[in-house]
Amino acid sequence: MAEIDNNQSGDTRRDFLKKSTLITALSLTPLTVLKAADNKVDEQFAELFEKIPLNLKVNNKAFVLKVEPRVTLLDLLREQLHLTGTKKGCDHGQCGACTVHVDGVRINSCLSLAVMNEGKSITTIEGLANGDVLHPMQAAFIKHDGFQCGYCTPGQIMSAVACVREGHANSKEEIREYMSGNICRCGAYPNIVDAIQEVKEKGTAV
Ligand code: FES
Ligand code: FES
Repeated sequence: MAEIDNNQSGDTRRDFLKKSTLITALSLTPLTVLKAADNKVDEQFAELFEKIPLNLKVNNKAFVLKVEPRVTLLDLLREQLHLTGTKKGCDHGQCGACTVHVDGVRINSCLSLAVMNEGKSITTIEGLANGDVLHPMQAAFIKHDGFQCGYCTPGQIMSAVACVREGHANSKEEIREYMSGNICRCGAYPNIVDAIQEVKEKGTAV
């Protein structure tokens, strides 16, 4: 009898400990979390966070979008907005092929998450020309034969426009320095520099 009594009291103690641990855990869990788990709201949360609302102005046109947090500005422009003028070269911030202007400042769009650009104004190569009239920098690149395969050209032109606007196009050396983030595998550099220098010297508004 004594053994049975001991065993019963052991089970009772273990049961009590289990129950009290569970009660303590539940009492420390916020009510909202318990309710959420009950209603499978966690799954709905996951869906909500998969895509984030994003307002952008691209080439003077307003867009209301939903994007995954991991999407870069480059991929958003190319894949969601079909603005494929902006090129993907290295995808690591090293070639400048993806250069666009964000609120007037040049950036490598492969290094910027789309959601970081909420409310901002983006200009891509497609936004430079005025209808059928080329931007002066586009015209200068054609005149000076500033491209061969053309892959780097949109990024070069976006950077070139920024370079002039920044006041960093006062000599060939300065242009080379401030265009050094834009790589051209065809080696069109001398012609690119000539094009930028001409635009700068003409004083044309860019
Ligand atoms: S693709 Fe962005 S820097 Fe190369
Ligand atoms: S023109 Fe070919 S990469 Fe520059």
